[in-house]
Amino acid sequence: MELQEAIFSRRTVRKFKKDPVPREVVDQIIDAARYAPSACNLQLWEFIAVDDPELIDQIAEETRFITLAPVAIFVTYSHKYTRENLAWVQSASAAVQNMMLMAHDLGLGGCWVDTLGNVGRIKKLLRLPEEQTVLALVLFGYYKLNLRAPRRRSIDSVLHFTEY
Ligand SMILES: Cc1cc2nc3c(=O)[nH]c(=O)nc-3n(C[C@H](O)[C@H](O)[C@H](O)COP(=O)(O)O)c2cc1C
Repeated sequence: MELQEAIFSRRTVRKFKKDPVPREVVDQIIDAARYAPSACNLQLWEFIAVDDPELIDQIAEETRFITLAPVAIFVTYSHKYTRENLAWVQSASAAVQNMMLMAHDLGLGGCWVDTLGNVGRIKKLLRLPEEQTVLALVLFGYYKLNLRAPRRRSIDSVLHFTEY
């Protein structure tokens, strides 16, 4: 798929087929994530893929979204180095977008989820070290429907030259 087609045709998917996502496909998604830009190229992200039904049930007590897809990937980033200007958020978000685009190219849908519930409990369930902050949960799976793009703001309304 060409880059422009990928950018404009990627959609958030919230209904997935039950078909499992092979581990090699998860690898490909994370391969794209690790090529995202990161502040000072520190790459302090970690990706925790969850497909174990027992763990999914426990996490679902905090975020129901996790039950929707065959595989869910938590994206975390270390704040050990710096929190300046939210560099960790910027870096981890770049990784998430790469994941979404790679998944789309591989024929999977994705859903970026920020509604996580008690993140402290999720950190414990995932056995995350203290310095890792959970940015998001990203769901992936195969899907049936072709989705239309929700309305976008026009270029004129978002682009400002020189001043607002
Ligand atoms: C930071 C962030 C958080 C999001 N959280 C959720 C969420 O909790 N639940 C959900 O269904 N969609 C979530 N989305 C998906 C947006 O609703 C979606 O991207 C938006 O409606 C545009 O649709 P599109 O992705 O198909 O272009 C989130 C997206 C972003 C970037």
